[in-house]
Amino acid sequence: MKHEFVEKNLGVLMVFIVIAISFGGITQITPLLFQAETTEPVDGLEPYTALQMEGRDIYIREGCSNCHSQMIRPFRAETERYGHYSVAGESVWEHPFLWGSKRTGPDLARVGERYSDEWHRVHLTNPRTVVPSSNMPSFPWLNENILDGKLTGRKLEIFRDHFGVPYEQSDIDGAKAAVEGKTEMDAVIAYLQVLGTALK
Ligand code: HEC
Repeated sequence: MKHEFVEKNLGVLMVFIVIAISFGGITQITPLLFQAETTEPVDGLEPYTALQMEGRDIYIREGCSNCHSQMIRPFRAETERYGHYSVAGESVWEHPFLWGSKRTGPDLARVGERYSDEWHRVHLTNPRTVVPSSNMPSFPWLNENILDGKLTGRKLEIFRDHFGVPYEQSDIDGAKAAVEGKTEMDAVIAYLQVLGTALK
């Protein structure tokens, strides 16, 4: 009879369902909070330089992550193609992370150092120059837009103060000088070339 009571009273049933599901959630989530490997940076992970940080922002602005994920799943088909699967410790300083799920183009989690800077420059200016069948858009304006670095120091400061990314004061003070006069293309390439290299 007790069971029937629960099944016939929607409110009571819902309360029990929530309790049952939260047990599953707690057993999955709680250990993650205490496992260093999910909260600590992997050995060799470096905070983005001022130029890489600007490149990352341009990557977000241009919607690159609408077509490119940055998350290699631990499946053979993926690791054979892209390299070691992504681990949490590589993303602890990513705010927001750009894992994504849409792959019109290939995953870029480990694209760093796979091509030369010049290849990226030609490819981003017009992908068809190097990959004739590519349907990736051209981004020629990246060559023309010049960075003024006005906000770069502030960006690093926010990452240090709010997200605990270990920037030195000298990184922040020197940020404007490090990017001023460079093109957006330089910044995006600097960013692409470091992706996934900490664990390579
Ligand atoms: C409309 C979807 C689309 C968008 C948006 C897009 N790409 Fe692509 N991307 C592709 C496709 C498809 C390929 C594979 C063909 C090629 O290499 O051009 C590719 C390939 C690449 C590659 C080569 C990867 C490899 O391992 O060979 C890089 C690097 C890249 N894109 C960077 C970018 C960046 C940076 C942006 C934003 C500025 C961007 N893409 C925006 C679709 C896209």
